[in-house]
Order: sequence, then C-alpha cells, then structure tokens
Amino acid sequence: MKTFTTLLPLAALTVAIKHDGPAAQIPLEPSTVLPAEPLTLDKIPLLGYGTWNVNGDNVSEAVSWAIQTGYRHIDCAAAYGNEAKVGRGISDGLIKAGLTREDLWITSKLWNDHHGTNAPERGLETTLHNLGVGYLDLYHMHWPVSQSILGSNSIEYRDTWSAMGLLLEKGLTRHIGVSNFDPEQLKDLLNHTSHPPSVHQMELHPYLQQEDWIKFHEKHGIHVTAYSPLAGSNPTYDKGELTQLLNNTVLTKIAHKRGCTPAQVSLVWGMSRGTSVIPKSQHKERITENFHSLKCELKEKDLKKLDKLGKAHHRYNNPSEGWKVDLYKGLEDSEGKHKSRS
Ligand SMILES: NC(=O)c1ccc[n+]([C@@H]2O[C@H](COP(=O)([O-])OP(=O)(O)OC[C@H]3O[C@@H](n4cnc5c(N)ncnc54)[C@H](OP(=O)(O)O)[C@@H]3O)[C@@H](O)[C@H]2O)c1
Ligand SMILES: *[C@@H]1O[C@H](CO)[C@@H](O)[C@H](O)[C@H]1NC(C)=O
Ligand SMILES: *[C@@H]1O[C@H](CO)[C@@H](O)[C@H](O)[C@H]1NC(C)=O
Ligand SMILES: *[C@@H]1O[C@H](CO)[C@@H](O)[C@H](O)[C@H]1NC(C)=O
Repeated sequence: MKTFTTLLPLAALTVAIKHDGPAAQIPLEPSTVLPAEPLTLDKIPLLGYGTWNVNGDNVSEAVSWAIQTGYRHIDCAAAYGNEAKVGRGISDGLIKAGLTREDLWITSKLWNDHHGTNAPERGLETTLHNLGVGYLDLYHMHWPVSQSILGSNSIEYRDTWSAMGLLLEKGLTRHIGVSNFDPEQLKDLLNHTSHPPSVHQMELHPYLQQEDWIKFHEKHGIHVTAYSPLAGSNPTYDKGELTQLLNNTVLTKIAHKRGCTPAQVSLVWGMSRGTSVIPKSQHKERITENFHSLKCELKEKDLKKLDKLGKAHHRYNNPSEGWKVDLYKGLEDSEGKHKSRS
C-alpha cells in the first residue's frame, strides 16, 4: 500500500477511468466542425459528497456548502428521493463558487424499479430533470436487482446494462457503472457486454476492506468507489456489537497522533487504497472536516494498523433478506456467513 501524501495538488486526487464510449472523443477545444460539446472532467475526484439521508429543510444548503467548501464530486441516486433539492443545491453552489456544471463530477443511480429494456432511459431523464443538468458523469445500476410492478424482486442486470450502454452512446451520461454486484455477477456481465463498467460502487471501510475484490477491479481497469466510508455512522444501519468505527481506539489514537479527526483518518485510509470515498454529512462543520481529510497525512505504519481492523469483516448494508434475493455471494466472511442487516 502506498503512503498517501498531501503534497499532491487537489487536481491530482483523481484517477483516470477507462473510456470506451464516444465520450472519450469529446474534443477539448471548441470545434467549428462538430457541434459544441461542453468541456468536462474526465477523471473522478477521489473525495466526493454523499447525499443519501440528506433530508429536511436545508438539503440544498448542505449541497451548496459542500461545493463552496471544495467538493467537486457529488453522489446522488433516484432512490434517495431528494434529487430536485440536491439539484438546487448544485446550481446554488456553482454560482457561489463561480463554477460551471462542467467543473463537477455528478453521479446518480438507476433504481430497481427502472430495470429492463426501456425504463432506464426514463429513469435517467427523470434524474437529469430533477438535478437540473444536461448529462451525468456517471450513472450506476444501483443494485443487480429488478423490482417488478408487484414489488417482488429478482436478480436481473444484463438487459438493463445493455439499455444503459445506449444512454452512454446518446451522451446522456459519460460513464456507466454498477453497484453492489457480487463476483459471479460482475464476471458474467463482463462476459456479455461491449461496455464494461467504468466504476463499481460498494460498501468499503476499515471494518469491511474486501482487499481481493478490489484487486479484481484493478486488474480489469474498473475504478472502485467506497460507500459508507464512515462505516456504521449512518444512523439507518443496525449498529451491531462492534464499537462504532469513529470511536475505535486504533483509529482514534492514530487521529490524535497525526492531528486529524477519526473521520479524516478513515477517509484517508480509503483514498490511500485508490478508491474514491463519498462521506455524507448534513452539518457544515463536518462537511468541511471531511473535505479537509485531503490535508491529513498518515504514515505507512498507521495504514498497516488500520488494515488489521479488517478482521471485523462487518457489512452494514445487506437488504438480501428483506428483498428476498441472494446478494453478495462469495463476499462474506471466512465462515460464509451472510451478515444481513435488512
Ligand atoms: N450504492 C449504494 O448502494 C450506496 C449505499 C450506501 C451509501 N451510498 C452512498 O454513500 C454515501 C455515504 O454513505 P453513508 O451515507 O451510508 O454513510 P457515511 O458517509 O459513512 O456516514 C454518514 C454518517 O456519518 C455522520 N458523519 C459524517 N461526517 C462525520 C464526521 N466528520 N464525524 C462524525 N460523524 C460524521 C453523518 O452525520 P450528519 O449527517 O448528521 O453529519 C451521517 O450520519 C451515501 O450518502 C450515498 O451517497 C451508496
Ligand atoms: C440543517 O438542519 C439541521 C437541523 O436543524 C442542522 O443541525 C444542520 O446544521 C443544518 N445544516 C446546514 C448545512 O445548514
Ligand atoms: C466468462 O468467460 C470465461 C471465458 O469464456 C469463462 O471461463 C468464465 O467461466 C465466464 N464466467 C462467467 C461468470 O460466466
Ligand atoms: C464514543 O465514546 C464516547 C466515550 O468513550 C461515548 O460517550 C460516545 O457515546 C461514543 N459514541 C458512539 C457513537 O459510540
């Protein structure tokens, strides 16, 4: 594992991700021959702002504050039910920061009720309308799960993925990705598509490290985004018996020693592995604190100590039981236990 250094300028904290579609050929100079295309980010910033559970009266204010603070990557989803408010926050933040749409990396996700051949385009159109933007940088399939009109669920992703490939070709999104896939599903998808996913978003934090699974993605040129990077801090998760990550003594000691906060240490650990991290907060101080993880410098030995927390192998987000589908096959702990938290 490489030591994470803060000497890099912010702009360097991005990783190039694989291009396949025509999005890769967008000219960077205005062209008189081709229709004008916006100048846009072609790299995913390693630090993003999560918007699940950003609710209530000040959603737009929180998102706008994140942009004013310096976040250039916003993680959204249709299922979060707040995209219109998030969109207003995006436009307000851009104005206040003196930026334009093209300065941001905006991700959203297709919900389970829009799987299939035709529905993904409607899903994306609704998201674009709500967010008030003309295109996304990244559109994920939120789960490999299709929800029928009757509410029953089944594992389905191939048809939906083909439909998402067309959205890429239409320029409605610059990249497509998956989320919450298991190894069998991802390998099967790779065997059946001409548009491999650019990004896989999954639960990752010091209590759920999935080192081998990340290596598989490296090998296939798929960037990984870590969701719930602060582990069980999300109040919708069942806390279980583990000490809250941000209260874990290994983590708090390192934080104290390096003059960082526990949340910053967890985020730096995530970025040091090359994964992007997308912490959520609805509080100005914490939004700023999390952003300033970019200034928190850890030593190699700190990262090694944090690696040991992986023994917990604790997954907080597992709707398998509630949805009656088998998720995360092959990713559970050494005893093969499904740690359902639905
Ligand atoms: N693809 C998927 O299926 C999926 C699933 C889960 C999440 N996600 C994405 O990942 C994002 C992040 O994950 P998450 O929301 O589950 O959890 P998280 O970011 O790991 O943790 C968020 C919780 O931590 C608190 N918090 C934030 N910063 C803190 C700090 N510096 N110190 C102490 N507490 C802090 C927040 O409280 P306050 O808000 O009150 O400050 C909130 O309750 C989501 O918002 C969403 O965009 C995707
Ligand atoms: C949003 O409102 C909550 C509850 O009143 C408050 O605690 C929080 O600081 C507010 N956040 C922002 C960004 O204004
Ligand atoms: C993918 O294709 C390879 C090569 O044909 C094959 O060995 C492998 O079993 C396939 N994997 C899945 C999950 O279909
Ligand atoms: C963290 O520990 C402190 C004191 O040790 C305790 O007061 C606090 O409730 C704990 N917080 C969480 C989220 O467990």
